[in-house]
Amino acid sequence: MKTKITEMFGIEHPIIQGGMHHVGFAELAAAVSNAGGLGTITGLTQGTPEKLANEIARCKEMTDKPFAVNLTFLPSLTPPDYPGLVDVIIKGGVPIVETAGRNPAEYLPALKDAGIKIIHKCTSVRHSLKAQSIGCDAVSVDGFECGGHPGEDDIPNFILLPRAADELEIPFVASGGMADARSLVAAMALGAEGMNMGTRFIATQDAPVHQNVKEAIVGASELDTRLIMRSLTNTERVMNNDAVERLMEKEKALGDQLTFADIVDEVAGVYPKIMHEGTMDAGAWSCGMVAGLVNDIPTVKELIDTIMDEADAIISKRLSNF
Ligand SMILES: Cc1cc2nc3c(=O)[nH]c(=O)nc-3n(C[C@H](O)[C@H](O)[C@H](O)COP(=O)(O)O)c2cc1C
Repeated sequence: MKTKITEMFGIEHPIIQGGMHHVGFAELAAAVSNAGGLGTITGLTQGTPEKLANEIARCKEMTDKPFAVNLTFLPSLTPPDYPGLVDVIIKGGVPIVETAGRNPAEYLPALKDAGIKIIHKCTSVRHSLKAQSIGCDAVSVDGFECGGHPGEDDIPNFILLPRAADELEIPFVASGGMADARSLVAAMALGAEGMNMGTRFIATQDAPVHQNVKEAIVGASELDTRLIMRSLTNTERVMNNDAVERLMEKEKALGDQLTFADIVDEVAGVYPKIMHEGTMDAGAWSCGMVAGLVNDIPTVKELIDTIMDEADAIISKRLSNF
């Protein structure tokens, strides 16, 4: 399938694996890219430029296909060494960067001078237009359904994607709630040039996370995620568990008085315990409503091949028969 996104990124299928903290290691990125999609290493999980350079080198040993690095710009008391991370991305010859969080304008000149394509992930039409105006090449439009940070507007993809299509000139992919061929074909019908998936890629054999995480996603329904940290204007969609219930009790009790310090035990530094040790109640971890559509743990290649085969069938049989 050829779309503006496959052409722009030099990939076979219009399927992207979004950056995911403590999930997006070289193993997963390479598996997605080898299967014809675009895999992504999560820059901040590596933390330092040296470690990220090493992860990029490892990924290059596992694939000769294009892959991306995710740079998430978060408010932080001790910000990561972003200039150093950008530098190793450029020196490592990474062709694509997925930016997320706040406006990446500061780092665009260096990345663009190096010929790197930028896809910015954002949750609203106005932020997508901003990304376009500062020179991003594409946008990943993340609807309210998404795992992780859906923003504060709460606009689901059935509205957000056609709104983006009406306003944007640069190509965009649909992100949030995407799981299978139906998602891909629907996203394309709404104006997207492909799709970005997070949660679905965690429940694959290639995702370098504990089996408990994959089984938690398979076992969850679309009713099992919760939105946390709304009063901090840092809303996150997470899988419900004991820690999340505890956190939500504090939110209820403290209301607008809640501070980050009140919930630090439930959210700070919990990812390694969950993703690598499989301690599922250790804290809040991002997960999309799309968990309700995930019923198996295939290889990344099986997943992508099935999506592309079934997308063909939907387009050429189901849709063309109406
Ligand atoms: C466990 C997990 C961790 C994530 N970490 C990040 C991250 O560090 N940076 C980022 O830009 N997006 C992150 N995301 C968001 C994904 O890249 C993607 O946009 C989102 O998962 C799409 O929604 P879906 O889960 O419904 O597919 C994360 C998502 C999950 C599920």
